[in-house]
Amino acid sequence: GAPVTQDISKLEMGQMLITEWRGSPIFIVRRTKEQLAVLPSLDALLRDPKSENTSQQPAFAQNEFRSHKEHPELLVLVGVCTHLGCSPKYVGELTPEPFDPNWKGGFFCPCHKSRYDMSGRVFQGVPAPANLPVPPYRVVSDTQIVIG
Ligand code: FES
Repeated sequence: GAPVTQDISKLEMGQMLITEWRGSPIFIVRRTKEQLAVLPSLDALLRDPKSENTSQQPAFAQNEFRSHKEHPELLVLVGVCTHLGCSPKYVGELTPEPFDPNWKGGFFCPCHKSRYDMSGRVFQGVPAPANLPVPPYRVVSDTQIVIG
């Protein structure tokens, strides 16, 4: 499929927009400082905290934030659960409810309750085997990214 250009000028802090690339939903979140700050504290609870499964992201995103280094706030994910392909829901709040005491915001798959953090990293103890994929993408400007 051809690359997809996405306007992100109206994407507010903490909000997600959904676009499409190669027939899959693409989640784009402009993460808050609070959402980024919590990520390192979750490593011990995750299956692949360092994104060592290299099939799940391009090399540039093999880091804590799973994003371009110059734009850590922008999270771009293929919105397809790595268990059986349902679309996870974005639950950005830092509240511990309603999922579990460790919940600090992220993505929740309603099909079999897999949970992912605000970098799309999968928690231990859920059916999904791998982190949500990060597609290839470029940040063209403050208002535009290109996926693909
Ligand atoms: Fe997401 Fe099964 S498809 S948990």
